[in-house]
Amino acid sequence: RLPLPAEIYEPLRGNSMGVEFGDRAALAALLAEIEAARGRSEARPESSAAKPSRPVVSPIDGAAIGEVIECDDVAARDAMASAARAFAGWNATPVETRARILERAADLLEARRGVFLALLQSEAGKTLDDALAEVREAADMCRYYANQARLVCREARLPGPTGEDNRLRYEGRGVFVCISPWNFPLAIFLGQVVAALVTGNAAVAKPAEQTPLIAARAVALLHEAGVPRAALRLAPGAGDVGAALVDDPHTAGVVFTGSVEVAQQINRALAAREGALAPLIAETGGVNAMIVDSTALIEQVVDDVLASAFRSAGQRCSALRLLCLQHDIAPAAIETLIGAAKELRIGDPRMLGVHVGPVIDAAAKEKLDRYVARARAEGRLLYAGEAPSAGTFVAPAIIRLDRAADLREEVFGPVLHITTWRAGAFEALVEEIQAGGYGLTFGLETRIGERIEEAARRAPAGNIYVNRNMIGAIVGSQPFGGFGLSGTGPKAGGPDYLRRFVRETTVTINT
Ligand code: SER
Repeated sequence: RLPLPAEIYEPLRGNSMGVEFGDRAALAALLAEIEAARGRSEARPESSAAKPSRPVVSPIDGAAIGEVIECDDVAARDAMASAARAFAGWNATPVETRARILERAADLLEARRGVFLALLQSEAGKTLDDALAEVREAADMCRYYANQARLVCREARLPGPTGEDNRLRYEGRGVFVCISPWNFPLAIFLGQVVAALVTGNAAVAKPAEQTPLIAARAVALLHEAGVPRAALRLAPGAGDVGAALVDDPHTAGVVFTGSVEVAQQINRALAAREGALAPLIAETGGVNAMIVDSTALIEQVVDDVLASAFRSAGQRCSALRLLCLQHDIAPAAIETLIGAAKELRIGDPRMLGVHVGPVIDAAAKEKLDRYVARARAEGRLLYAGEAPSAGTFVAPAIIRLDRAADLREEVFGPVLHITTWRAGAFEALVEEIQAGGYGLTFGLETRIGERIEEAARRAPAGNIYVNRNMIGAIVGSQPFGGFGLSGTGPKAGGPDYLRRFVRETTVTINT
């Protein structure tokens, strides 16, 4: 585990759905910092586009919290050309210098946490504990990739016959296009960008259209830490901007986190381009399942399921979507789970004690509301809480399914599906889940040692969690990412991630 900055994390106590602050003075100081930062949350992401600005609104109450000028085609091309010009100089900067810049960025991030916490709440609708965890993850990414770059970007001497000197050198590929989602607008945004930069690439970053303000702050922070302005450019906008960047002739690689449909579009666009071949690193979604057998401890299952399905309003790609309960414990487990779900507080995430904040925008809310209404009409709704009527809130919902195979789409919000299975059907159930094609996270709750080992060897997912919740992978301890429809790898926050960002050169000298 990486060392954690004590002043942020030590006050954190509590179960996996909430935070209690043991130290009231530390909590008061933290809230004062966030409050003082609120006025400073407004940012105007730079872009050379000849477009009017557009307001950025909060998912909590629809209030305008800043504005953004989105890129047009000219601005997107300009950002790519400027990054391409900056590449050679940045790539020639020693890796130690680049690594120190990342470490300075992590220090600055912690020193300015108030601004980032305030924005994570107002722009992305995060609860305080989610916002704190995200600032920690972003700082961890910077420090972890700084250290990994020192290991990866070293020239290696390789064996060869007498009279021959063989070397293997690693450097940046060129301009990386970084396209990130709104659900981790700081940690995933920064993780992609710093991985590209520390390995010697220039970067053009397109944040999600819902969260450009945090991205603008993060870019300003990296510039302040020492990244040359031209080597990192922000290109705010919607999907058309991402598409223009991917198509640009300067693109040497793309790192993308988002839906599988967009990852497939990017793959097709890269394949159709003329000229140099560019790799895609994609992390997408999952139809993540947890299997619970009759040896599991129901209290623990309930706590882990609540956190996995409803924390962050279910808006994590790692979140639990399908709970598979062994038949004989299902009635008791469902009753306890519904009882516990009734205790969840839904509302303004800036209020302490709120467990479930809003979903990201009105379009997401409409889609989820329609989905839950259909389940209700079909008589499959086991439970739905009550959401505040204003804002884009969706209350946690629990839906019954006849078979695991009935769920093949990722429902991105606080909606949990439950199915049951009978003794003897464990292997068939694992295969049924696998047949969906996704492979991101998988949970297992059991006291049977052999089953744990079997799942660890064979479970169809990139991240397998046994007897705990399935979210919140820690950088450096739980490298994160899946396979199949869930992504290409390598895993973010793991020792192999940076290798996909580098160009390798073998030099053989006849001495
Ligand atoms: N890395 C995040 C998590 O583990 C992704 O959703 O929860």
